[in-house]
Amino acid sequence: MAYARLNSSHPFRVDPVQALRQNPFVLAPMAGITDHPFRSFMRKMGTGIVVTELVSATGIEYKSERTMSLMSFDEGQRPVGIQLFGEEISHVARGAQMVEEMGADFVDLNFGCPVPKVVKKGAGSAMLKDLPAMTELLKAVVSAVKIPVTIKIRTGWDSGTRNADEVVKIAYNEGISWVAIHGRTRAQAYSGLSDWDYIAEVKSKAKLPILGNGDILFARQAVERLTQSGCDGVMIGRGALKNPYIFRDALAIYRGEEPDKTLKRDFGTLFMALKEAIVARCEDRITQIQLKKFAAWFATGYPGAAQFRKQIFQAKTTDEVTDLALNYFKTLNDIVQEDTSSEAFLMGGHG
Ligand SMILES: Cc1cc2nc3c(=O)[nH]c(=O)nc-3n(C[C@H](O)[C@H](O)[C@H](O)COP(=O)(O)O)c2cc1C
Repeated sequence: MAYARLNSSHPFRVDPVQALRQNPFVLAPMAGITDHPFRSFMRKMGTGIVVTELVSATGIEYKSERTMSLMSFDEGQRPVGIQLFGEEISHVARGAQMVEEMGADFVDLNFGCPVPKVVKKGAGSAMLKDLPAMTELLKAVVSAVKIPVTIKIRTGWDSGTRNADEVVKIAYNEGISWVAIHGRTRAQAYSGLSDWDYIAEVKSKAKLPILGNGDILFARQAVERLTQSGCDGVMIGRGALKNPYIFRDALAIYRGEEPDKTLKRDFGTLFMALKEAIVARCEDRITQIQLKKFAAWFATGYPGAAQFRKQIFQAKTTDEVTDLALNYFKTLNDIVQEDTSSEAFLMGGHG
């Protein structure tokens, strides 16, 4: 099927595969979290590449204000991908053309979402159960656009039908630029652990770049996962909420530096940079909600976090939130964060 090609030229486009070679630490897409301000902030905090949360290709057909806002980005975020999901091939192909027309650097397709509402229609991780349909979709999208097309998957539908290796072969044959693998099956949702041995096994046979994903919380661990799995990159989601310095520090370790000695933490400056990014795009009510949420996450594993969270969620104004956060964060700069990996944290999402 051929789709009328929109104007795809954009002077500032960045090749995400090249960017991955320079910085293999990538912020994982998270619905309701990796929005425009947070992507801008995390690019400044050292992630090499950002992706929007999943956007409904069918929603794009209607160009609703909400959909357009989910897809918005600015030059400082490049390379930036827009992630689409959908089961209707023509919608996804046209959606990809819209992504290209908007000037994004790549289009990412979501084949990992475990949420029943998405899966019931045959989209997200349901595509892992229907590889012919996935193949047809990839063919249509790749032929509809000139920009790179990437995909994000889980290891399979359930433990008896893990097929990431097969998906990777199909992706390679269809001209996909990389495959990001969250090392859990759809049936696992967010329980158990990401299976990095399986990711490494799939990577060892893959002919295209592979990004491993799941349960990375510390910079050193990010570098270990990258080198031990042989992956071309790693995606970090929840770990960046608990530790917003993870990208900067991982990159330093990867380049042979010792971040503990050379790179100082300054949570106050970090908080103000996040505030600036949010204020630039959001009204005060939303700014306040977002700042409370992020400050509470950033406090994870530090002394007095529970008390700080209680106080900040009771604050009535953005100024009050800012004062509380700055006062608390200035006490943390030299404190080592506790390992909280055994505690449940955001056990639901769209990939
Ligand atoms: C709140 C939340 C929202 C998510 N939304 C998306 C999404 O929109 N698209 C996607 O591909 N994955 C989504 N994910 C999955 C993450 O990208 C990632 O695969 C998963 O969280 C495992 O990585 P982590 O342990 O580093 O967080 C989401 C995860 C969470 C926790």
